[in-house]
Amino acid sequence: MRSEAVVSRAKVVRCNLVVLPSICASGRPGLRCKAGRKQTTSLQGLRPARVSFKGVSITCHVNSERSYPQVKGGRMEDIIIIGAGGFGREVWWLIEEINAYSPRWAVRGFVDDSPSLKGKHVCGVPVLGTLDVLMDKPGHAVALGVGIPGVKKTILEKLKPAGLSWPTLVSPDARMSKFVSLGAGTLITSGCILTTQVEVGAHVLLNLACTVGHDTRIMTGATLSPGVSLSGYSTVGPWSDIGTRAVTIPGITIGRAATVGAGAVVIRDVPAGATAVGNPARVIRQPEPVE
Ligand SMILES: CC(C)(COP(=O)(O)OP(=O)(O)OC[C@H]1O[C@@H](n2cnc3c(N)ncnc32)[C@H](O)[C@@H]1OP(=O)(O)O)[C@@H](O)C(=O)NCCC(=O)NCCS
Repeated sequence: MRSEAVVSRAKVVRCNLVVLPSICASGRPGLRCKAGRKQTTSLQGLRPARVSFKGVSITCHVNSERSYPQVKGGRMEDIIIIGAGGFGREVWWLIEEINAYSPRWAVRGFVDDSPSLKGKHVCGVPVLGTLDVLMDKPGHAVALGVGIPGVKKTILEKLKPAGLSWPTLVSPDARMSKFVSLGAGTLITSGCILTTQVEVGAHVLLNLACTVGHDTRIMTGATLSPGVSLSGYSTVGPWSDIGTRAVTIPGITIGRAATVGAGAVVIRDVPAGATAVGNPARVIRQPEPVE
């Protein structure tokens, strides 16, 4: 199902923002601004600016390197968020931010296996039911509103037969060079910075304000909590979980499904499956090798 939507075009020309012919805020589906009006605002440096147009206030971002997807033909695509908990709601906000720049997604609802949520509304959108709701929606766009890598993996395995579409969602105020690749279903939230020759796999989460240095590889399903800083030449293994404000020195490899504690300073490689905490980070738990 597709919904009536607004048409938005925003162009950034050097440090001048030109909004034409209409621009609309997210959260107001159906709002339509009249075409043919033009407003120019000077931006200070490369900082985002708020402008008001016909009573609608929007945040505009200057980024001469990247082009943001624009809605063609005035249509938005439906999307469902998996998980209506804390992070699911943050994904809802991520989508709101994307729409504020360029209307793109119509959030149709959440799915959540918690029976108490069925029929309720979260962030103003309905909880449609459990994950099973998605099993007969091949091609439908979904976003994973869950951060714990092991839980993400279980959900993705369960939903594999459903043939869903996993768009890559990037906050308009994340910054990255054109030498960054992002996999399907990956979420880059507000304030993240990725520099050059960075490869990010599928279903990775970069939570708020992470920085990723040059020549770094982040593999499938990994989660970086808010404020994580990876120095250059880092490798983050699949399904690994890095706690808030952990940092790595250059050249570190964090193994498959490893856990790094909040605030850790990682100066040595972390083996697969291990948990490392502290400054300098030390392994406090290492699973027995499987025979
Ligand atoms: C590393 C972590 C996963 C360990 O959790 P846990 O397995 O439940 O570990 P415990 O709480 O049993 O702690 C085990 C030991 O490690 C220490 N420890 C745990 N986390 C630590 C951390 N981040 N830094 C330093 N020491 C830590 C504990 O003090 C305890 O030490 P002790 O045995 O001397 O008492 C967890 O503490 C953590 O840091 N998680 C990050 C969560 C996060 O950032 N989430 C972001 C959500 S957006």
